[in-house]
Amino acid sequence: MTRKKIPLAGVIGHPIAHSKSPQLHGHWLKKYGLAGHYIPMEVAPEDLEAVLRALPNAGFVGANVTVPHKEAALRIADHVSERALVIGAANTLVFHEDGTIHADNTDGYGFMENLRSGAPHWVPSDGPAVVFGAGGAARAVLQGLLEAGVPRIFLTNRTRTRADQLQDEFGDRITVVDWVQAGNFIDEAELVVNTTSLGMQGQPELRVPLDGLQPGTVVTDLVYAPLQTNLLQAADDAGCTTVDGLGMLLHQAVPGFERWFGTRPEVTDDLRAAVLG
Ligand code: ATR
Repeated sequence: MTRKKIPLAGVIGHPIAHSKSPQLHGHWLKKYGLAGHYIPMEVAPEDLEAVLRALPNAGFVGANVTVPHKEAALRIADHVSERALVIGAANTLVFHEDGTIHADNTDGYGFMENLRSGAPHWVPSDGPAVVFGAGGAARAVLQGLLEAGVPRIFLTNRTRTRADQLQDEFGDRITVVDWVQAGNFIDEAELVVNTTSLGMQGQPELRVPLDGLQPGTVVTDLVYAPLQTNLLQAADDAGCTTVDGLGMLLHQAVPGFERWFGTRPEVTDDLRAAVLG
């Protein structure tokens, strides 16, 4: 008698102890009563390729990859989705029966889904966005916003050359503005996004003049520890719609879970509580 295989997936990082993904996927596996396991894996960069090649034979149907493996996983993969290519990094891998590795990046999707559920009245094509930061997280946000049809993005970063580089890559809907001037563009923005680590526990706050914030503006922060950053507090005070960063983490996990375990999971308040707990 052949035993039914239990699908395995997991998250690979270095370090990995802080990852919320095991709680997240574990919550869904239990909630939907599915056979499967989701396992955190501490893997050093020099071992990444060997581990990825070994996982399909060990019963793994896929994996998430996190810091510092997101770019390397893209290079190792046999097939890469268009959006992963645009972002230049992978976060979700699917292993096919023939052992090939298919890389995707669902961060921009997760960002957009979080906005759509937290600010349903926001119409991407209605007006410009201001985006703070030009690191890996900003790349995913730009991919999501541009694909959704945002007409113009004012991009600002402490290190201007990194923003210029993104402008070169992502094209002429991006306008780079000086870090110290960025506050001047907020009054015409429909959306303001912080992709930097400023505002995170233990980091300085994002200090920009926010007096331009209009009550109709949507403001979102990728930082989710704390949930209420100083940016979101200022936006609340100005009567803006605010969307915290936890939802992006939850939504980006949906496509991977669906591919690996065959059920499309929902992002609900009990999931938020499980991940925060
Ligand atoms: P991630 O993948 O999370 O985006 P990253 O690539 O290290 O991580 O990018 C971190 C972002 O936070 C960058 O935009 C960085 O600005 P620089 O490119 O100038 O480093 C921004 N950031 C981090 N600390 C900052 C600080 N103290 N002041 C301003 N920006 C900061």
